[in-house]
Amino acid sequence: MTDITAANNAYTNIFQMIETVDPRISHAIRQELTDQRDSLKLIASENYASLTTLLTMGNWLSDKYAEGTIGHRFYAGCRNIDTVEEIATEHAKTLFGADHAYVQPHSGIDANLVAYWAILSSRIETPTLNELHAKTVNDLSEADWGKLRHQLGNQRLMGMALDAGGHLTHGFRHNISGKMFEQRSYGTNPSSGLIDYGALAAAVKEFKPLILVAGYSAYPRRINFAWMREIADSVGATLLADIAHFAGLVAGKVFVGDENPVGLAQVVTTTTHKSLRGPHGGLVLCDQEYGEFVDKGCPMVLGGPLGHVMASKAIALAEARRPEFQMYAQAVADNAKALAAGLQRRGAKLVTDGTDNHLCLIDVATSYQLTGRQAESALLDAGIVTNRNSVPADINGAWYTSGVRIGTPALTSRGLTESDFDQTANLIDEVLRATKPVLGSNGGAHQAKYVIADGVAARVQAACNELLAEHPLYPELVV
Ligand SMILES: Cc1ncc(COP(=O)(O)O)c(C=O)c1O
Repeated sequence: MTDITAANNAYTNIFQMIETVDPRISHAIRQELTDQRDSLKLIASENYASLTTLLTMGNWLSDKYAEGTIGHRFYAGCRNIDTVEEIATEHAKTLFGADHAYVQPHSGIDANLVAYWAILSSRIETPTLNELHAKTVNDLSEADWGKLRHQLGNQRLMGMALDAGGHLTHGFRHNISGKMFEQRSYGTNPSSGLIDYGALAAAVKEFKPLILVAGYSAYPRRINFAWMREIADSVGATLLADIAHFAGLVAGKVFVGDENPVGLAQVVTTTTHKSLRGPHGGLVLCDQEYGEFVDKGCPMVLGGPLGHVMASKAIALAEARRPEFQMYAQAVADNAKALAAGLQRRGAKLVTDGTDNHLCLIDVATSYQLTGRQAESALLDAGIVTNRNSVPADINGAWYTSGVRIGTPALTSRGLTESDFDQTANLIDEVLRATKPVLGSNGGAHQAKYVIADGVAARVQAACNELLAEHPLYPELVV
């Protein structure tokens, strides 16, 4: 438990100090706390880290350059960063039961980049160097180096389609991963919305990727990683599990056996700030054989490590090793089920007809004849923070979308229970039923403009405030 008096004193002092330089910054930080306290936060990728985790970031480890990894730095005087990184690594390995952990990535994107380049280094670069009897890339002739660069840039990757819930970093053109790899996507079954492992196996056999990515941002179901590994092995692909969204459910032992990718996927990447409830950042877990390559993430694709954030990761990972975290993770999943059931009982259509992880995806076009953009904005007007998201074969495109994604990690951290989530479902349904698209001059429905029936937003906002008052965020913190 965080000592609230200590945290109160710490923040009071921090704000006093910031105010002597630029009070607008301290105002924005305070305002963010007020905004977070006052909104029903259902963004599936957000959470509330403990005050200890947050406070651990404000220190002078930030001032130290420490490129390299534990005990092998390009700078002198890194012993304290070594200590911090070693402890964070130990916590990560123990928490997830992984052979190897690398805690430097600054975010989920970085973790994926580190993983991709570790796989490329291990599977493409190293065999070429061995073949040419070269110790490092510097030993290659211009011609051989040119050939190797061409090979590195011509590998294949397969990931989940964006509108099925995949992530941009899984080989899509707007992200560097799409420029690095020749990519093909796998979708979900059009009638069930579920991953079709048989179809995926056939697609993998045909495309023969070097890397198969399993993981998602907006798929409301669990993944069978044993099956994924079998599919990857059938063509000699490396399985990379991106558990950025559901790492907390893995750490909290909700996803076990075939649903736990650690030990099944050769490489696992994650963020630390979503369901894992740590500071903003990423990490990579892997089998021993990839460890030496993953550890070269800095300076391969990362700048100098953020020592202060690694310290904070160590604290959050230590917190996640406590039994309370397993109870939290189970509550996240139970609450998502209650939220989904509450919405369905009121007539909403959910992608895959439910959830068994931490999120649900409401098909607002089918359920309420709204675009995701309209639904997201109307909910925000009533104090409910969500985000719009594509649904499979989305008729409204990636900008307006037809879905709204909602998740339970943040509000579960505030202590909301299944009955609170049923009430939340009621509030969401009330707003969306009362929202109608504005008609354009041609009589067609506008994709962004909407109206909410009089009084509904204010009534729902008042109900949200009551719910939030029962579950205060960082209670007793007065800053
Ligand atoms: C599956 C997945 N991978 C990677 C990322 C990227 O994480 P970050 O925003 O920390 O770079 C996200 C973020 O939403 C994600 O959902």
